[in-house]
Amino acid sequence: MTRPIRTAVFPVAGLGTRFLPATKAMPKEMLTVVDRPVIQLAVDEAREAGIEHFVFVTGRNKGVIEDHFDKQYELESTLRRRGKSAELDLLEQDLPGAGQTSFTRQQEPLGLGHAVWCARKLVGGEPFALLLPDMVMHAKPGCLRQMMDVYEARGGGNVIAVEEVPWEHVHRYGVVGAKDWKGNAFAIDQMVEKPKREAAPSNLIISGRYILQPEIFAEIERQEAGAGGEIQITDAMIRLMARDRFWGVKYEGTTYDCGDKVGFLSANVAFALERDDLSDSFREALKKILATHGGL
Ligand code: UTP
Repeated sequence: MTRPIRTAVFPVAGLGTRFLPATKAMPKEMLTVVDRPVIQLAVDEAREAGIEHFVFVTGRNKGVIEDHFDKQYELESTLRRRGKSAELDLLEQDLPGAGQTSFTRQQEPLGLGHAVWCARKLVGGEPFALLLPDMVMHAKPGCLRQMMDVYEARGGGNVIAVEEVPWEHVHRYGVVGAKDWKGNAFAIDQMVEKPKREAAPSNLIISGRYILQPEIFAEIERQEAGAGGEIQITDAMIRLMARDRFWGVKYEGTTYDCGDKVGFLSANVAFALERDDLSDSFREALKKILATHGGL
């Protein structure tokens, strides 16, 4: 029997330098896609996949994330007084259950690997999901749900979501080698961080969703700082690959890197065009904007 995945880790302690000045006093994970903060979208995806425990690795200036996943009594009583029941229901639905959230601090932003390691006591000895909230995965079923299916079908191990990028971009990412394809899933036989195009085993990049066995924590612990002086998760996964299985999932859906301005703007356009309450009027507004800015 494969061990169930009950806990998800959300690292939210980064500085978000690419989004300054927006992220000077506000965490980048609270940037919204239409009207939902990207951290809420990641939590929605985890809940859909059956996650019961939500662990946030926060840092300075991130208190608002904790508030976001709490009740707001004043707001709720005002909404109730004004008879705004749809808005009240929405707030209620978005909230994980009592006792399902945990928060810990990464005191210094020493890299994603280090942020994950900070969650080790809260995760305990179980396999867990890791979701980078600024990577918005637009998919039905959600990306993590699709990964859980592969985890169960392949009988455990570690699972990584991947996506295809143009070959000339592979040098910016962690890249995997693929064999034994079954549907949209495969066994990972190589993992390389930021390879030259000629050395890349494929153009499939690691894209922000992981299912990891708890042995990853020991690998992170043994690690020296890597690229950019940060403790990288990919380096730890490369070492864990020597003794555990890794599966890749080319999930069905679209990834928007909302830590990047073009990705963030694209996500807003795509999500707005899909909303019944917005799509017609937004389409008209877009047409006008494009007409006054020289068209496409
Ligand atoms: P990024 O590298 O995209 O985030 O990390 P960043 O460093 O905040 O962004 P820029 O490059 O300066 O604009 C991906 C995720 O990992 C978290 C971030 O908060 C983000 O959700 N992270 C990153 C940490 O929690 N701790 C870190 O030390 C680094």
